Amino acid sequence: MAIKQRDGFSGKLGIIAAATGSAIGLGNIWRFPYVAGENGGGAFLLLYLIFILLIGIPVMMSEFVIGRRAESNAFGSFRKLAPGTPWWMIGMLGIVAAFVILSFYSTVAGWTLEYIVQAINGTFTGKTHEQLNNNFAEFTSGSFRPLLWQIIFMILTAAVVIAGVKKGIEKYTKVLMPVFIIMIILMCIRSVSLPGASEGLKFLFHPDFSKIFMYDQSFLAQDTIGLFPKINHFFSTINYSIILLALGQAAFSLSIGMGALITYGSYIRKDTPLFSTTVSIASADTLIAILSGVMIFPALMALGGKPDGGAGLVFVTLPAIFQQMPGGYVFAIAFFVLLAVAALTSTISILEVVVAYLKEELNLSRVYATLIGAGSITIIGVFCTLSFGPFKDFTIFGKTFFDLMDYLAANVFLTFGALFIVLFTGWKLGKANFMDEINKGGKIHPTIISVLIFIIKYIAPIAVGAVAIGAFFIKGLT
Ligand code: TRP
Repeated sequence: MAIKQRDGFSGKLGIIAAATGSAIGLGNIWRFPYVAGENGGGAFLLLYLIFILLIGIPVMMSEFVIGRRAESNAFGSFRKLAPGTPWWMIGMLGIVAAFVILSFYSTVAGWTLEYIVQAINGTFTGKTHEQLNNNFAEFTSGSFRPLLWQIIFMILTAAVVIAGVKKGIEKYTKVLMPVFIIMIILMCIRSVSLPGASEGLKFLFHPDFSKIFMYDQSFLAQDTIGLFPKINHFFSTINYSIILLALGQAAFSLSIGMGALITYGSYIRKDTPLFSTTVSIASADTLIAILSGVMIFPALMALGGKPDGGAGLVFVTLPAIFQQMPGGYVFAIAFFVLLAVAALTSTISILEVVVAYLKEELNLSRVYATLIGAGSITIIGVFCTLSFGPFKDFTIFGKTFFDLMDYLAANVFLTFGALFIVLFTGWKLGKANFMDEINKGGKIHPTIISVLIFIIKYIAPIAVGAVAIGAFFIKGLT
């Protein structure tokens, strides 16, 4: 076989920048607050954090290990590491997931562009929370502008992906991400110092466990009832759907479960330590999600808003915060520009999964692969965008097309993707290969490795499996 010259990242900082850029995006700033807001705040946050640690980190590490070991795309990696077995289907699942995710992600990414323009035009100035709500509804329920922005965003994404890995992906991430983090921190400070902000902090940091466990105390306390009915009662009243949503959000936010990090992993140099890289990326991503909650909820509650505002939540609340800040006009422009960049560093990682696959498996050129991938995703994306307007009443399982794609992506594709990835690493790739890969670029303490292997082999698959069974078979689709 010919040795292919693979484009790669320049060492540890490069991959950290690119993978953090992939992880930090609309998932943190837009999706986390809106899903947490609809599902109980603190209890959701706690579950989310547990899943980051227990499942997110092991899966992310597994993806890097698989990608670097195979030096191939999401699909090719499985075929290379497990030839003649059906494991390649995980890679295929990931490529389908990339289509699903990018189709609705590009809708929201398009909104960020509209909001840059609105910020420049001073559209938010003097508007009440209510008026900002109407402003968002008015814009998203249209057709022309949301579609135009979505298409422009996809063109931007394709342009960066065509430019290639090192020049394209790495360059944009290194400088702008730190600036973005500083701006978010400033917004957090403004948000928590608004009168009435403590309600929001309470919502985010005081878990209300009755959102997860809905058992009846008095039922469990009755002596005449046997142990088995009690255990049965306890488990049957767990709110599995919230648990699944938290797991889905953890996977979505970390960019795991569909091979994006397998693809990036294939570009990582052999002397880059994967363990510390993973921990840095996951920590940065989680920090931004929490900060995003601190930025949104206190301001939201201070302004009399409700946390279950749905997909428009941050696009209504952020402009409201800017108005309370000195220099808010300029700040708003800068913030939405950086949010758009954060979204772009995520969209390129999603498109790259499709492009790397088309390029390496079907032997297309990078340009062709990108045009085909981006073009077909945009076509599906049109339906997501229009489901806020003309197709509002068209629902499947009670969800609009946008909501369905959003739900399927995180809670079905990524959840099962994550499950199969840990199963593959733990049971097929095996301990020796895993150890060999994880120890490159610096030896990891054997105890840490044993713990990781144990989690990857048993804990993570059982946890994901239990949540999936609970949510899909016990609680049904909600
Ligand atoms: N993690 C990104 C965000 O939070 C979205 C994203 C980029 C993603 N690449 C991914 C999600 C791959 C799942 C899989 O905005």
